[in-house]
Amino acid sequence: MILAGGLATRLRPLTLVTNKHLLPVYNKPMIFYAIEAMKITGIKEVLLSTSADHSGDFANLLGAGEQFGLKLYYAVQKNQKGGIADAIALAKEFASKDKLLVILGDNIFDAKKLKPIVNKFQNKKKGAMVFGIKMSTRARQYGVIEVDELGKVLSIEEKPENPKSDIAQTGIYMYDNRVFDFITKLKPSARGELEVTDLNNFYLKEKTLTCEFLDWWIDAGTSYDELLRANNQVAEKIKKGGIV
Ligand code: G1P
Repeated sequence: MILAGGLATRLRPLTLVTNKHLLPVYNKPMIFYAIEAMKITGIKEVLLSTSADHSGDFANLLGAGEQFGLKLYYAVQKNQKGGIADAIALAKEFASKDKLLVILGDNIFDAKKLKPIVNKFQNKKKGAMVFGIKMSTRARQYGVIEVDELGKVLSIEEKPENPKSDIAQTGIYMYDNRVFDFITKLKPSARGELEVTDLNNFYLKEKTLTCEFLDWWIDAGTSYDELLRANNQVAEKIKKGGIV
């Protein structure tokens, strides 16, 4: 599943008449990177959740996914302030009894590393997985993951004032099918959203949450500066034959 809804107030006025995931990152719309990442991991069917306002634009641009070589389905998140976990709930029927890979549509990363990890996760009986990245600064604007020397997750906190580590939780998650039951138990956070961090904490509590690490990752949707950094770094990587 790819999440491409939200109001993107942090990127106004760029996002006043379009959805942030349709903004350009170097030579293509931002959303292309998440779809191509899905394709690289070997996933053949993707559910894209968007807002009602812009669902027609996504359908015009992406169709049924032929240009990417996968099948694309659409869902509309009614409450744009519902949060990530609220959007994930839309995949219940789509996922049926399968596990679910969730990618936030504004996250850009090198997906080649993901493929073996996704395969390994497929064979696991139960659990969830988060992907962390070491930040030099700024981890506090994200979910922050605390791990021990062996990489075992000790805690995850959403945008803490005093982060326990410099590892940010990226917008890539994998869940077993129980995720939909866990979501029904969530309560809205102080910012009124069903938080993905609270969802991940259900798995942490039952000791079935694992964490893998990425070397490079950008959340292009957090600010103008991150969007600009994404454009510059992606351009460089594409010219060197990286990403897609
Ligand atoms: C969300 C998650 C946060 C995560 C981030 C990654 O934050 O809540 O834990 O670190 O995505 O992109 P949001 O973009 O909703 O502020």
